[in-house]
Amino acid sequence: MSQKLHFWITLVYICLINITTTLSQPDFVFIRCENADNYTLNSTYKRNLDSALIALPTTNSGLGFFNFSTNEGNSTANSIALCRGDVKPDEFSNCLNDSIVKLRQLCPNQKDAIGVYVNCLLQYSNYNLLVYPQNKDYFIQFNPEITTDINGFNGALRPLMDELRGTAAAGGPLLKFATGNRTGPGFIRIYGLVQCSPYLTEQQCSGCLEDEVSRIGLHDNGKVGGKIVLAACNFRFETYPFFNQSLVTQTPPFRSPSSPPGRYED
Ligand SMILES: *[C@@H]1O[C@H](CO)[C@@H](O)[C@H](O)[C@H]1NC(C)=O
Ligand SMILES: *[C@@H]1O[C@H](CO)[C@@H](O)[C@H](O)[C@H]1NC(C)=O
Ligand SMILES: *[C@@H]1O[C@H](CO)[C@@H](O)[C@H](O)[C@H]1NC(C)=O
Ligand SMILES: *[C@@H]1O[C@H](CO)[C@@H](O)[C@H](O)[C@H]1NC(C)=O
Ligand SMILES: *[C@@H]1O[C@H](CO)[C@@H](O)[C@H](O)[C@H]1NC(C)=O
Ligand SMILES: *[C@@H]1O[C@H](CO)[C@@H](O)[C@H](O)[C@H]1NC(C)=O
Ligand SMILES: *[C@@H]1O[C@H](CO)[C@@H](O)[C@H](O)[C@H]1NC(C)=O
Repeated sequence: MSQKLHFWITLVYICLINITTTLSQPDFVFIRCENADNYTLNSTYKRNLDSALIALPTTNSGLGFFNFSTNEGNSTANSIALCRGDVKPDEFSNCLNDSIVKLRQLCPNQKDAIGVYVNCLLQYSNYNLLVYPQNKDYFIQFNPEITTDINGFNGALRPLMDELRGTAAAGGPLLKFATGNRTGPGFIRIYGLVQCSPYLTEQQCSGCLEDEVSRIGLHDNGKVGGKIVLAACNFRFETYPFFNQSLVTQTPPFRSPSSPPGRYED
């Protein structure tokens, strides 16, 4: 399959970590409307996008990955969504429904858009979204606080992220997600979460996360919390527990030897 690589201008949003998570749906953490390609109100693309996004919430692969394309006429609209691995299944469609409405309000005529909530990520495009690597833009967000022992902190954070990367990449075709913690300097505990879109191969997931984790050094050396999000993979770390441990441990392990559906070649 031929790859459609399109490289967006890297948008880097640096904001303060929103430490308080409320029960109501938060607004987008990150959003990008791609301005290069617009649709008109009466177009085939709009009709296809409308129907793709109506169907999308019904396509849960089982553990929070959604994918639907509509290809009427000659204008394909593709959509995918990914929910955070520790979000309860009945919250998937809440987050997804909300993000569909909001993303279309914020990107009213763009063919290609991505919106990232705390609990889910929504993307639609006239390009195929199930190819990797897709584009190079990423969203970053850091806690501005800096540790007093950068080497000690990174000495715990890096091995934690490497371990989680390996676990998530090996997670199988339905869920590539891992959380964990390690003790850092001064007995602080570092909590980490990583996730890949499940259509990625094990190698792609690992490579995507490795690339992201390597950016810690570029942007984030010594910060006590941060988040880097690409469409295909994301990670977050904090010095407080921010994921639902009870739900994570309930998640059945997937170690399927078969290829994920819709797998593609480089
Ligand atoms: C697409 O629409 C946006 C406004 O929604 C506009 O800013 C942008 O310039 C348009 N792009 C093109 C290529 O016309
Ligand atoms: C929308 O498209 C239909 C047919 O596809 C056409 O009859 C109608 O005039 C168009 N409306 C506008 C505002 O372009
Ligand atoms: C397909 O798209 C092209 C422009 O990209 C247009 O000229 C053509 O009429 C379209 N065909 C149909 C069947 O919609
Ligand atoms: C989400 O939207 C679909 C229709 O698009 C609806 O059937 C479903 O009940 C909604 N779910 C929630 C939790 O609002
Ligand atoms: C920290 O990790 C250990 C395993 O390494 C686990 O048993 C423990 O429950 C974790 N603690 C929290 C608060 O997540
Ligand atoms: C974590 O998951 C459990 C089990 O579904 C649920 O009862 C609890 O409310 C969740 N906690 C949070 C903070 O979401
Ligand atoms: C995405 O959905 C299409 C049908 O719309 C299906 O053929 C394909 O296997 C799906 N791919 C993944 C990775 O879920």
